[in-house]
Amino acid sequence: MTIRAAVTGVGHYLPDRIVPNSEFEAIVDTSDEWIRSRSGIERRHFAAEGQLTSDLATRAARAALVDAGIDAAQVDAIIVATSTPDLTFPSVATMVQGALGLTKGFAFDVQAVCAGFVFALTTANALILAGQARTILVIGAETFSRLMNWKDRGTCVLFGDGAGAVVLEAVEGEGTTSDRGILSTDLNSDGRYKDILYVDGGTSTGTTGHLVMEGKEVFRHAIEKLAETAHHALDKAGLTPDDVDWIVPHQANIRIIEGTAKRMQVPMDRVVVTVQDHGNTSAASIPLALSVGKARGQIKPGDLIVTEAIGGGLAWGSVVLRW
Ligand code: UT7
Repeated sequence: MTIRAAVTGVGHYLPDRIVPNSEFEAIVDTSDEWIRSRSGIERRHFAAEGQLTSDLATRAARAALVDAGIDAAQVDAIIVATSTPDLTFPSVATMVQGALGLTKGFAFDVQAVCAGFVFALTTANALILAGQARTILVIGAETFSRLMNWKDRGTCVLFGDGAGAVVLEAVEGEGTTSDRGILSTDLNSDGRYKDILYVDGGTSTGTTGHLVMEGKEVFRHAIEKLAETAHHALDKAGLTPDDVDWIVPHQANIRIIEGTAKRMQVPMDRVVVTVQDHGNTSAASIPLALSVGKARGQIKPGDLIVTEAIGGGLAWGSVVLRW
């Protein structure tokens, strides 16, 4: 008998305000046509004033608990992947814990920017396999609209706010690739590239700062590294791209999503795409896509899923799991 960490519930939350590309035409020199053709984005959601990352995270968590059919009291750990915490500390995860009325177990944040959810899922998997927890809420939640430089057309049109969450539970497996749950993971970082995507604030400036990106450079790394990490994770599990039912990628740019699928030789009808509706929601993008993919009827029990993401650091990785 093998212990596996399986997704038993998924949910998401998007703020009410939907911002179409056309709204940006009034604030920077851009067009709906440029944004659609270069990124695939058509609209994104922005949090209301006073609506914080922890609020989004808590709503997504509640939806995932309902989907799993469990009570919050059964959760023994909460991990939130975010780069936009309400405060420098305490963690968003402890805020979610408080909001859910929990006083037991443990809660902490993981910060690996757009790859955050893949890092958080890998951490949660390791905790379950080590017997440290049986039921973990893994959440990706972001309010990137608060990090935008509204004068920089190269970045402000790309990002959105939102949250997604999964309930990860210890289940029994056979130790084969037919098992439900996480089958393999692959994490990578390379700090040589810290200057191509960063936020120019923090303790060094005493301000929150704004996102700065060399888009072309990040794009180049993404195309190269995402298929590679997905292949590594599949190799570790003894699987190939032919076994994959769904790629659920980080949603930054449709051209990156298509380029990665092409390199993996997986057709686009086996890729969950939400970038047109959400923009880049950083660590929230994969759990949002998992939740939307399930709601659309794309992702079904038993499907083999590969998630892959890259973000500031650079940090990138992949998780292979059976739904
Ligand atoms: O999630 C974390 C990872 N982030 C990403 O994966 C993002 C990776 N990068 C990208 O998605 C793309 O590089 C972008 C969408 C950011 C940009 O697309 P691109 O095809 O690489 O365009 P570019 O940066 O080479 O810019 C092409 C032109 C430039 O004008 P010139 O220099 O050719 O005259 C830009 O100034 O497009 C211009 N441009 C814009 N024009 C209209 C840049 N932003 C805009 C804009 N509207 N919003």
